Amino acid sequence: MEDFAVETINLSKSYIQGHEQILVLEEIGFKLKKGEFAAVVGPSGSGKSTLLNLLGILDSCYSGEIKLFGRNLSSMDEAVKAKIRMEKIGFVFQFDSLLPEFTVLENIDMPANLAGKPDENFSRNLLKKFNLEYIADKFPMDVSGGEKQRAAVLRALRNGPGIVLADEPTGNLDKHNAGIILADFKKISSLGTAVIMVTHNEEAAMCASKIYHLSGGKLTAVVSGE
Ligand SMILES: Nc1ncnc2c1ncn2[C@@H]1O[C@H](COP(=O)(O)OP(=O)(O)O)[C@@H](O)[C@H]1O
Ligand SMILES: [Mg+2]
Repeated sequence: MEDFAVETINLSKSYIQGHEQILVLEEIGFKLKKGEFAAVVGPSGSGKSTLLNLLGILDSCYSGEIKLFGRNLSSMDEAVKAKIRMEKIGFVFQFDSLLPEFTVLENIDMPANLAGKPDENFSRNLLKKFNLEYIADKFPMDVSGGEKQRAAVLRALRNGPGIVLADEPTGNLDKHNAGIILADFKKISSLGTAVIMVTHNEEAAMCASKIYHLSGGKLTAVVSGE
C-alpha cells in the first residue's frame, strides 16, 4: 500500500487568456509522504500558487491525476472533497489572514468551529506546544507580524491535517521571523504531516527535506531527502 500523502501523475493545467491558451503546469509528477517537507521554488508567475490550489482542491480544472492519501480526486464527490479540504488540508498564505475581530485563540479554533468541533482548550495546548501561549488572548493587531504568521500556521494545523500547503509563507517576514516559521514547518513535518511550501526564496527552501524547481511549466527535483 502506497503511503503518499500527495501524488500527481502527468498533472497539467492551462489558462485561457484572451484567445490564447497558456500552459502553466506541464505533466507534473510529484510524490510526497507523510512527514516530508517539500519546497517548490520558482519565480513569480511560474505557477506555484496554481499548483498549490490544485493540490488543495481549490481548483478542479486540470488534466492528469491528483491523489491525496492514496485516493484519486476524480473519484470523489463534492461532499467528500469539501470534507478533506476542511479537515485534512491546512493552508497558510503570505499575507496576514487572521480575522481581526477575534483573539488569536479564537482564530486558531476557527477551523474546528467550522467543522462543528470547537475546543479552545485543544487550541490553547497547540499554542503551548509551539511556545506561543502568551499571545492566546491577544487580538491580531496587538501581536507582531511574525507571531501572526505563526498563529496562522497553528490555525492550519488545528484540525490535524495530513497535508499543510503554504504559499510564500515567509514572503512578508524578516529573516529572523522567517527562520522561526521554517523551524515550525520542520517540526510539523517531523510530527508526521506532509508540508509543501512554495516560495521564490532559494534560501527559505534550504530548510526543506526535498527541493523542487518550477519553471517553464516543469517541476524538477533539486535535492532529494531520500
Ligand atoms: N485565474 C487565472 N486566469 C488566467 N491566468 C492565470 C490565472 N491565475 C494565474 N494565471 C496565470 O498563470 C501563471 C501562473 O500564475 P501563479 O500560479 O499565480 O504563479 P506564481 O504563484 O508562481 O506567481 C501566470 O502567468 C498567471 O498570469
Ligand atoms: Mg503565487
